[in-house]
Amino acid sequence: MKRLLHRTIRLRHFQTQLVLIAIFMFTCSSSLKIGETCGSDKTCDGGLSCQTCPANGNTRPRCTRMQPLSPTTKVKGLPFNKYSWLTTHNSYALAGARSATGSFLIAPMNQEDTVVDQLRNGVRGFMLDMYDFQNDIWLCHSAEGKCYNFTAFQPAINVLREIKSFLDTNPSEIVTIIIEDYVSSPQGLTKVFQGSGLSQYMFPLSRMPKDGGDWPTVDDMTQKNQRLVVFTSKQSKEASEGIAYQWTYMVENQYGDEGMKAGSCPNRAESPAMDTKSRSLVLVNYFRSTPNRSQSCADNSAPLISMMKTCQVASGNRSANFIAVDYYQRSDGGGAPEAVDEANGHLTCGCDSIAYCKANTTFGTCDIPPISPPPPAAETPSDGNQQPASNSANDAHVGRLVKLVQCVSVLVLLRQLS
Ligand SMILES: *[C@@H]1O[C@H](CO)[C@@H](O)[C@H](O)[C@H]1NC(C)=O
Ligand SMILES: *[C@@H]1O[C@H](CO)[C@@H](O)[C@H](O)[C@H]1NC(C)=O
Ligand SMILES: *[C@@H]1O[C@H](CO)[C@@H](O)[C@H](O)[C@H]1NC(C)=O
Ligand SMILES: *[C@@H]1O[C@H](CO)[C@@H](O)[C@H](O)[C@H]1NC(C)=O
Repeated sequence: MKRLLHRTIRLRHFQTQLVLIAIFMFTCSSSLKIGETCGSDKTCDGGLSCQTCPANGNTRPRCTRMQPLSPTTKVKGLPFNKYSWLTTHNSYALAGARSATGSFLIAPMNQEDTVVDQLRNGVRGFMLDMYDFQNDIWLCHSAEGKCYNFTAFQPAINVLREIKSFLDTNPSEIVTIIIEDYVSSPQGLTKVFQGSGLSQYMFPLSRMPKDGGDWPTVDDMTQKNQRLVVFTSKQSKEASEGIAYQWTYMVENQYGDEGMKAGSCPNRAESPAMDTKSRSLVLVNYFRSTPNRSQSCADNSAPLISMMKTCQVASGNRSANFIAVDYYQRSDGGGAPEAVDEANGHLTCGCDSIAYCKANTTFGTCDIPPISPPPPAAETPSDGNQQPASNSANDAHVGRLVKLVQCVSVLVLLRQLS
């Protein structure tokens, strides 16, 4: 009896320790939220990166978003055209890359992580330039439809295989590929999609609405395992290979510098007018004619959101289904992921962010959290005579102190128990 009692006490003891360890892990290892000052010793939460945006006057390093919310997880089962997807312009044009031919590259670069990492961060739209090259199809950033060693990134099949493997391991995810198509070899695209194994996931042309109607639901696409949507810029490919001609299904605004003039959202030449309702999908481009990494954090911030609104009006009150940017991870805080959350809010539940959608309520019923004042943009000068930058910086300081005290108390308790 006494032994049993002893064992029960020891078990209790053990349980208490477990609880304390859990509290310790929770209070002491939670890291920094969006907008908080970060650095080598202060790391940001998952999905955030620590960065500055001097082009915007943001010299204080702070936690910045890289990932949108997963829209189909938050609001389930709507038609494909009722969601917005983060899209990378020239997704393959990785800064600092060398050509797979071994050559140096003189092509402009538009992104700073691989397609695999982009997928991990929630990018679901990929703009890929495909060319005939070396008896194969390559991803090139070239001119006049011809690829050279010094403009050739890599064989397209490599990236298509990466997307295939992502779809294999994520059975409810849907990916869109938008091809800037310079391929003229017969059945060239078909061969490379088959070679990569991606063909099995292809959403069939016959199921795409041509009259501006709703697409099948994401549930339906998932059930039938038709989770890859592909568009080409070459009209003839619909007849020859059954690959959808982009502008039969989508309107798209002007790309490059011409498309960045505040307050106007003209269609690109190949696209019908933005308010053409017989196209169910809306693509908004927002990137410069010549990519500029240090400028992109400013472009991907307030001006992007503002252009999104301009284009929403121009498109007949339709939010963007694809938001295409350069250096998608760069911004002064929320960036392109926030723009996508906002478009998803408008599309799925009539709120200003999908984060505010409430389950099982009528369209337009939102759950808006109280707004806290934003932290200061600029770094506080280290000059001793300076006033503290703001109260919120002070609060953060006090918060950290409280946390430290909590951590130490839990540690002391743990020691006493063991
Ligand atoms: C281009 O790269 C290939 C290797 O992929 C090489 O055999 C060829 O000589 C290169 N061409 C030129 C013009 O450098
Ligand atoms: C790129 O952007 C930075 C920051 O705005 C600017 O200073 C620089 O001149 C730009 N570079 C080019 C080549 O336009
Ligand atoms: C815009 O569309 C939303 C729903 O998609 C609707 O609730 C709203 O009334 C529309 N606004 C205008 C001005 O048409
Ligand atoms: C919303 O409705 C669905 C279907 O009726 C149900 O499965 C789900 O649990 C509901 N969610 C909430 C949060 O009430």
